[in-house]
Amino acid sequence: MSESSVPAETLNRVLWKIPNVLCLVGSRHGDEWNGMTQSWVTQVAMEPVLVAISVDVKAVTNRLIKGQSAFSVNLWDREDTRPFVKFSKPATKEEMTLNGRPIREGQTGVPIFEEAVAFIECTLWQTVDCGTHDLFIGEIVDAGFRADVEDPAVARMEDTRMKYGGVKRGGH
Ligand SMILES: Cc1cc2nc3c(=O)[nH]c(=O)nc-3n(C[C@H](O)[C@H](O)[C@H](O)COP(=O)(O)O)c2cc1C
Repeated sequence: MSESSVPAETLNRVLWKIPNVLCLVGSRHGDEWNGMTQSWVTQVAMEPVLVAISVDVKAVTNRLIKGQSAFSVNLWDREDTRPFVKFSKPATKEEMTLNGRPIREGQTGVPIFEEAVAFIECTLWQTVDCGTHDLFIGEIVDAGFRADVEDPAVARMEDTRMKYGGVKRGGH
């Protein structure tokens, strides 16, 4: 397979134009629980309804998703982008909190963030090896909104100064 001849800088600038959500992925296997900042999320089929997330093969989250065969996608209030910096490192669990954010246990055992304005809980349907990342395709087992919100605006990459993706550099 040949490498693209497009200069890295152009590729980055083009790829960073793709609009992405910013959310937290919840994962757990046994006593190990985690939450991770995630931007590569999309629905990929209607029947069954499937949602895919692409997760770095080196991330703790990757190992936990494979262990439990489940994950949660926690959409966040657009006005509160603070958690995303903290959740880009493995999270600290204290009682039923991750990095101080309250969680509950979903049907599959994975954490769901109580503060998430909307959540999707999935069992693992298929995993596609994509090199640096595994594309985890999930089948929805539960989804819903936080009780006090009806039609929330959710956080997006463009709401922050953060970037993810583009070409691989030293560490990504
Ligand atoms: C804005 C932002 C978006 C990110 N999006 C993703 C993503 O879509 N997929 C991914 O594997 N890592 C993503 N990351 C990186 C992970 O959050 C980071 O590698 C994390 O340390 C790995 O999590 P873990 O080892 O705690 O599981 C993103 C980081 C930031 C700051």
